Parts: sequence; structure tokens; C-alpha cells
Amino acid sequence: MYDGEPELGRNDECWCGSGKKYKKCHLEFDERLEKLAASGEQLPPRHLLKTPEQIAQIKKSAEVNVGVLDFVAERIKEGVTTEEVDRWVYDYTTEHGAIPAPLDYEGFPKSVCTSVNEVVCHGIPSTDEVLRSGDIVNVDCSTILDGYYSDSSRMFCIGDVSEEAKRLVDVTHESIQVGLRALKPWGHIGDIGAAIYSFAKDNGYSVVREFGGHGIGLDFHEDPFVSFACRPGSGWVLVPGLMFTIEPMINQGKHKIDMSDPNGWTVRTKDGKLTAQWEIQVVVTEDGYELISW
Ligand code: MF3
Ligand code: CO
Repeated sequence: MYDGEPELGRNDECWCGSGKKYKKCHLEFDERLEKLAASGEQLPPRHLLKTPEQIAQIKKSAEVNVGVLDFVAERIKEGVTTEEVDRWVYDYTTEHGAIPAPLDYEGFPKSVCTSVNEVVCHGIPSTDEVLRSGDIVNVDCSTILDGYYSDSSRMFCIGDVSEEAKRLVDVTHESIQVGLRALKPWGHIGDIGAAIYSFAKDNGYSVVREFGGHGIGLDFHEDPFVSFACRPGSGWVLVPGLMFTIEPMINQGKHKIDMSDPNGWTVRTKDGKLTAQWEIQVVVTEDGYELISW
């Protein structure tokens, strides 16, 4: 097959784990994929397409992930340190039998990323960082439950936030819906990013290029890379079962970023202006998509 896997016989058991014969299960689906591949389309390898059993497990992980973000949402306010947010995330996640995915991930020292104001992503929680009225902060939670991964993030406005900051947060939130409207099964992953890019640009903002969404489920970061500065019709075909995050980072000023922080993680806008990000996790279905984590 196009993905290097051997072709199955009609009466063999299907690769998807259904226990059914191939001809009664994914044969037609695979013929469609093979034809698309032959016509030059880029397709996900089938091992990245999530089975219903895997989706059920990943949803359990996401239940914890959404729960932890709801928990943070109820408590985050002026005077709280990002270290306290980290503690909430660690405690909630572990009390629910799960592991915070960022902890020790490639050396990341905390359980959650907290990115305040001009921090684009990967902010490290700290006792020195007190949230003040007027701050905007992204809290990015990722959970491992029984080996299955979920990942989503939200913005929080602390106290009285300027009109400009609020608009950035709201436009970035709305951009996720714009991206979802562009998500069509058998369309292209680039349709999503392109729609988000135009929406951000029309609102006078720029979009970070170096970071984006990613496949997820059996691992924290699977293929594909999901760009939000790309052309419609580009990238992988959105085959049902493909699971990934939509997580645009939208800047008030220029798109350039500064990765020179000696801690090796914290990413800032180069011009020091504000930046916002929301993240959801979705799976492509036969007739659209299903939200997994938000
Ligand atoms: N949660 C981030 C994402 O959306 C990844 C953070 S990696 C970490 O992909 F190590 F910084 F946690
Ligand atoms: Co992510």
C-alpha cells in the first residue's frame, strides 16, 4: 500500500481491529486512499488513523485534561503565581490517575505551560511570576492516561484587561471556529491553517510560523505538523480517524519570535507585543469532526 504496509487479502482480518473480514471493513476505504496516493495526494499512514477503541481511550484522557482546565478556570485570578497553577495541574491530574504530559518531557521542568502576555508558548511556571490585573495568560495542559494523550489550552484574562488585549484573545478564540468550519473530511489539513491565517490577517494580526499543531493520541507529538501559515489545499488529506490539535499562536504585532531565553523553553514575540493561543484536539470523522479536548 501507499504507506508501505502489505496489502491484505479480501478474506483476511481487517487491519483496524474490528475483527471483521477486510472486504466487509476497510477494503473500499483503502482503495480510495490508494487512488488518492496514486494521484499525488499526501496521505496519513494508516497506523496514525485512530480506531474507535483508541478514540474511546483518548477521550478518557481528555476528560481529565478538560477537567484540569475547568479547575484552573475556576481559580485563576490576580495574585496567583504561575507556580500555584502548576501545583493545581499536577495535583488534579495525578489525583485522577493520570500524568501531566509536559513534566520531564524533553527536560521540561513543570506540569503545565503558562505563557503570560508577550510569551508565545512554553512559559515555565514560577514562584516569581505573580499574575497581575491586565495580564493575559495561556494555560496549556496535556495529559497521559493509560498511555493515551490529550492536549488543549485556553486563555485567561486577569482582572481588568485592555480592550486591545481582549480583542486579541477573542479573535484568537474565534479563529479556532474559523478553522473548524474549514475542516472537511477528505479535504486538506492546509485548509484549516489557511482559513485561520486569513482571519488573523484580516483582523490586523500576524501568525507564528515556527510552532503549530500536531498529530496526537498514542504519542504527545505525532505527525503531521499543523501549520497556521499555509496554503489551502496543502498537506495531508483529512482522512477520517486522523487526530490532531488546532493551536494557532496569533501576535498583535509582527510574526517573528525570540527563542533566546537561556532556559531553552520560553518563546517570546520579537517585538515584545502581546500574543494569544487557544488549543483544541479533534478527530476527523466520516461527516465532519469530533472535538476531543478543549
Ligand atoms: N502542550 C504543548 C503543545 O501544545 C507542548 C508543550 S511541550 C512542553 O504541543 F514540554 F513544553 F510541555
Ligand atoms: Co499541542
